[in-house]
Amino acid sequence: MDGIPLIVANIRHYIADNIQSIYARRDLSDFTESILGDCCGSGSLFETTRQHLSSYTWDHYGDLDPEPFSGAPRPGSMIRTLEAGRELAAPLPAGPVIDAGCAVGRSSFSLAASGAELVLGVDLNFAMLRVAAEALRHGIVRFPLRRTGLVYQRREFPVSFAHSDKVDFWACDAAALPFATGTFSMAVSMNLLDCVYEPRELLASIGRALQTGGKVILACPYDWSPSATPVEAWLGGHSQRTPSGGASEPVLRTLLTPGAHPNSLNTLKLLIEREHLPWQVRLHDRSTMTYDLHLVVAERCMVA
Ligand SMILES: C[S@@+](CC[C@H](N)C(=O)[O-])C[C@H]1O[C@@H](n2cnc3c(N)ncnc32)[C@H](O)[C@@H]1O
Repeated sequence: MDGIPLIVANIRHYIADNIQSIYARRDLSDFTESILGDCCGSGSLFETTRQHLSSYTWDHYGDLDPEPFSGAPRPGSMIRTLEAGRELAAPLPAGPVIDAGCAVGRSSFSLAASGAELVLGVDLNFAMLRVAAEALRHGIVRFPLRRTGLVYQRREFPVSFAHSDKVDFWACDAAALPFATGTFSMAVSMNLLDCVYEPRELLASIGRALQTGGKVILACPYDWSPSATPVEAWLGGHSQRTPSGGASEPVLRTLLTPGAHPNSLNTLKLLIEREHLPWQVRLHDRSTMTYDLHLVVAERCMVA
């Protein structure tokens, strides 16, 4: 679909869930789009999609906008965290990389530009994948930047990234990656763990996809929400009477320590972690949420 392979378990559900974005018109003027936005109003799927595109595309590509928005904050917080992760994970194994939950795709371009052999960005949000695919195929980033309320300003500018011929974007479920065991030498998962239905399954899926000795860079703000993840599947965030006091970090550490607990993955071993990396999600001209990220590097170990 527009050059984006849809490789999902249930194609009928996927198409039905994403039909608005798949069937979206690209020919409407900024003026007409603003009328649609006013008519659909707050809380509509149209508005939610625009807000997500605004927040993520601005953070991923705002540094390349020739007419940058002058207000605080500075775009690029996801890429800065990824850079910190790459430093922490050094030496990086050579080979193909999977960027799980790539959204609008800047992390995939950045990984290829810094020398990755091949980078596959996967996500389930078609509207975001379309921005990534447009940047890849046409060298254009186009998105609605939210100014206030239902007021958006269309941004469109050219982009080009070194080694973008090594990048592709597919619609896939990162928690059920459709690849043979050991396909990738590295995985990146920025701010995805608390967005999936089964966080442990996401880790297991990444573990399976990695070769022995492969590394995963994972960042998470543990912003648990039942709209994304049922409470039973949260890693921490509940049961404060337990020895960890309900904190998420010790639960993740246990999962990533082979043999530590019956739930431990036994395929991924925590190597190193870093705390307190800021991740900024811009909501509108006068509102930005700042998350405090936990960054973790783990290694695919030999399964006994
Ligand atoms: C919080 S955003 C983070 C996006 C990007 N990695 C970043 O840090 O800017 C989470 C992304 O994961 C995607 N996502 C959620 N569940 C997914 C799944 N099961 N498989 C692949 N992507 C998923 C969402 O569509 C969204 O683009």
